[in-house]
Amino acid sequence: MKRVESIAQLRQAVSCLSSNLALVPTMGNLHEGHLALVRRARELAGHVVVSIFVNPLQFDRKQDLQAYPRTLDRDLELLREEGVDLVFTPPETAVYPGSMAVHTRVEVPGVSDVFCGQSRPGHFVGVSTIVCKLLNMVQPRIAVFGKKDFQQLLIIKRMVEDLAMPVDIVGVDTVREPDGLAMSSRNNYLDTQQRQIAPALYHALKNTVDALKQGARDFPALEHAALEQMASAGLQPDYFHICRADDLGKPEQNERKLVILGAAFLGMARLIDNLEVHL
Ligand code: PAF
Repeated sequence: MKRVESIAQLRQAVSCLSSNLALVPTMGNLHEGHLALVRRARELAGHVVVSIFVNPLQFDRKQDLQAYPRTLDRDLELLREEGVDLVFTPPETAVYPGSMAVHTRVEVPGVSDVFCGQSRPGHFVGVSTIVCKLLNMVQPRIAVFGKKDFQQLLIIKRMVEDLAMPVDIVGVDTVREPDGLAMSSRNNYLDTQQRQIAPALYHALKNTVDALKQGARDFPALEHAALEQMASAGLQPDYFHICRADDLGKPEQNERKLVILGAAFLGMARLIDNLEVHL
């Protein structure tokens, strides 16, 4: 496994690999969820490139950026074990030379403005900008992302379509702990008691899926019940929405492809999760 840090080294290393390339963009602190993305990438492409870059542009709070766990040595070890071909670990100066304040940004309006976009102003511009840059740097045939960040995945798909970027975006199912909690680097912020409370977000999603499957269609009432359930379990709910899976719009009563998205604060962590339901 080769590791490169500059864009010039990256281009040189990529030119030695086949054009059947998959990119897995990450911010490091890798867990089983990331490894599932790498495994899917290996199934779909001849060579796999993983990027590790904690992108300052997508953090709405400086404190969160500073606290974000950085575990590079262990990450590299895990990626080597997974048979990754190339790891790109650029310093901030390679990605954002000059002042970030005047750097070109990519904005995907509409789907970026709701839910996590509302709670974290500027976050999705940061995400679409860095993903656009990484896709241009690596020029992969496919790029793989987790469905845990469902809204992020939709935004990236829209960006790629709108900008006619020649890459297939692949989503991979969320990997969960045995009690249902979606794996996330931010779970590291939870203490023992909070860790016991955290699966309440998944339980609220799951109960809503069950109710929908049993025929319930009063979406506002279901959302309200889920928010109450989360709060009484000890979470501080941010949002909980039942949406059309294709564009996160308000669903009609007869909509068949839904996604339920939830977010909540718990101590230092902000948890997000979602479940898709096809009725
Ligand atoms: O999902 C993430 O880890 C990040 O948002 C991504 C896609 C690597 C962009 O920094």
